[in-house]
Amino acid sequence: MLILGIESSCDETGIGLYDTDAQRLLAHRVHSQIALHALYGGVVPELASRDHVRRIVPLYRETLAAAGVAPADIAGVGYTCGPGLAGALLVGAAFAESLAAGLGVPALPIHHLEGHLLSPLLSADPPRFPFVALLVSGGHTQLMRVEGVGHYTLLGETVDDAAGEAFDKTAKLLGLDYPGGPVLARLADGGSPGRFKLPRPMIHSGDLQMSFSGLKTAVLTTTQSAGWTTEDAADLAAEFQEAVTEVLVSKSLAALRETGLRTLVVAGGVGANRRLRASLDAHAQKRRFRVHYPELEYCSDNGAMIALAAGLRFAAGKYGKRDGRIAVRPRWPLAELQMPA
Ligand code: KG4
Ligand code: ZN
Repeated sequence: MLILGIESSCDETGIGLYDTDAQRLLAHRVHSQIALHALYGGVVPELASRDHVRRIVPLYRETLAAAGVAPADIAGVGYTCGPGLAGALLVGAAFAESLAAGLGVPALPIHHLEGHLLSPLLSADPPRFPFVALLVSGGHTQLMRVEGVGHYTLLGETVDDAAGEAFDKTAKLLGLDYPGGPVLARLADGGSPGRFKLPRPMIHSGDLQMSFSGLKTAVLTTTQSAGWTTEDAADLAAEFQEAVTEVLVSKSLAALRETGLRTLVVAGGVGANRRLRASLDAHAQKRRFRVHYPELEYCSDNGAMIALAAGLRFAAGKYGKRDGRIAVRPRWPLAELQMPA
């Protein structure tokens, strides 16, 4: 079965094509709106929706051409139904439901985080179920126990800002360009942690809850202290990155201990962070667990992971009956996402 996946929840338009029989991705294309929003220092929802409208059909055609596939070969269409920006989601949903109706194939709403969660399965050396997933994106920071497709248990999450959000807000405080996270990470890689001292919020809380909003306040206080100059920014960025990394690593290790599992999967945009990867790799080697990351191109938002999640659900034959209505869920707790029996 060839399954098309469509992603439009935020500032990337993504299309992917997954073959459930060969269990491999045939092609995918992403268009990032970074240049469009850079001028405004952040995502402008209305502009995002309009750009998705402009890009989605050409990207769909490009993806099919790259795979050498005709529309009539598509057996099902999966699309991100939430969480995300309502207008942006509606573009993908309307296109997906209309395309599916036109082709006479089923359409399947997919949870954006399920896409991220399963994205490491696209790699050459995929993880085996069950595993612990550390989901670290711009909107979410969660530890999940993943038993199989559609079987997720929330172990812990941030009580305030997501890790990516903390990166973005701190970057803004330091006067860095949007999108701040990767820019801050690059600056941090050239600095030394330890010269400035930032807290490791909730690291000793004894549970798997996290908190990142206090870090940006601590960064702000540091930049307002006497003697601060912009030349200190790299060292402060390095300390910030270290603080986030230490908390994420410590909580991930605790989740592995608590569940008795020996496989950790890291997904979402912050999963691209090199310091986080290096630290997790070092701990994995010492403590003998395996850690899997999606390839970098599947870390940020893309249609490939949505095609994969939809493909796995279609292949299992376990999806509810749909009425073709176009509806999105801008807020959609992942915990509600159990596979229908
Ligand atoms: O998963 P994603 O592409 O979109 C969401 O679903 O949110 O994640 C985007 C987030 C942003 O907050 C971005 O700043 C962050 O991931 N990010 C990074 C890095 N690359 C992207 N944060 C830290 N280090 C990076 N290298
Ligand atoms: Zn995402």
